[in-house]
Amino acid sequence: MRNLLPANRPALVLAPMQDVTDLPFMRVLGRRSLPDWFVTEYFRVHPDSRLNKYILRSLSENQTGRPIFAQMIGRDIPDLIRSAKELAGYPIAGVDLNLGCPAPVVCRKDAGGGLLRHPGQVDEILGALRDAVPGRFTVKTRLGFHGSDEFPALLEIFRRHSIDGLTIHGRTVADRYQTPVQPDYVKMAVETMPCPVIANGNVVDAETALAYSSQSHAAGLMIGRGAIRNPWIFAQIRAAFLGESPPAPTHRDLLEYIMELSGELARETSTYAPLPHIQRMKKTLVYICDGIDPAFEHAIRRMKTPEEFHQLCHRHLDHDTPLQSLPPENSRIFCGFEDLLKRR
Ligand SMILES: Cc1cc2nc3c(=O)[nH]c(=O)nc-3n(C[C@H](O)[C@H](O)[C@H](O)COP(=O)(O)O)c2cc1C
Repeated sequence: MRNLLPANRPALVLAPMQDVTDLPFMRVLGRRSLPDWFVTEYFRVHPDSRLNKYILRSLSENQTGRPIFAQMIGRDIPDLIRSAKELAGYPIAGVDLNLGCPAPVVCRKDAGGGLLRHPGQVDEILGALRDAVPGRFTVKTRLGFHGSDEFPALLEIFRRHSIDGLTIHGRTVADRYQTPVQPDYVKMAVETMPCPVIANGNVVDAETALAYSSQSHAAGLMIGRGAIRNPWIFAQIRAAFLGESPPAPTHRDLLEYIMELSGELARETSTYAPLPHIQRMKKTLVYICDGIDPAFEHAIRRMKTPEEFHQLCHRHLDHDTPLQSLPPENSRIFCGFEDLLKRR
């Protein structure tokens, strides 16, 4: 991963997000601001799994010009090896293993974040995958399952297997998304890991990016929900690091982004149907609407038809007021990011 890092600033990476960071999202994001690389939403791996065809298209039809890593989630070593070898046949920058997903259904199966309860198993999986993956092999983890005191022992394991990169979502699995992140633990990894470390969690604008970067000294920042809310965020952060002037989007720019994404998603669907389309858009809009106007947010959550969707978006967003750089403090969707700013 080292040779993917920019020379004059931290790398900026789009976080993998299931049902959001697909090919249409990558295209629409890319027309506004590009990360230095992408990571796919996870491929589920188990004894009967086949590589998901829809996610594969993010690899084979990626025309953004930026590399993309393929992420896997699972615990069965032969199946992880089989899937990693199949993925190597696609144009990928590397294979990433998910050790952070907190969804109960995933953790119950001892996959994703659930694996962090079993360091011995993590050790075996990393050893086997490191031997099997010919190219870059990276890991995305949390600080532990129950507590961050588990982290030093996890780092020991990561260090043993010559991984090419380590992304750290600076919370435990038990924290889910509701707490501040802990840059000190990311810094501990930066100081002890031989590979580049990427800091993740709660970067919502250029200021939070600068703060997380200076507190962790990470080689890069991975941004998830903040990039759904604000697809100009990569250009804004890049400008902040380089001392250039950032793009300043308006509500009307946001409206265009939403309409473009809706159009791209509708075109991708072979059997377009209005209700599933609206449900899919809601998955994205929940991150965009937060803090714009409570009435807009309320109505978006309840909308049922494409006509309602278009009317609502035009009514609330078709104006030239600049967008707020920060989401509201203490919102349900974005919480804890103020902590990064207070610690500066
Ligand atoms: C809707 C959604 C889906 C996610 N799916 C994945 C996933 O497939 N793989 C993964 O490693 N993390 C996944 N995550 C976690 C994000 O990659 C990221 O670690 C987390 O959102 C914290 O970063 P952020 O504060 O910048 O959003 C998901 C998060 C969200 C909100």
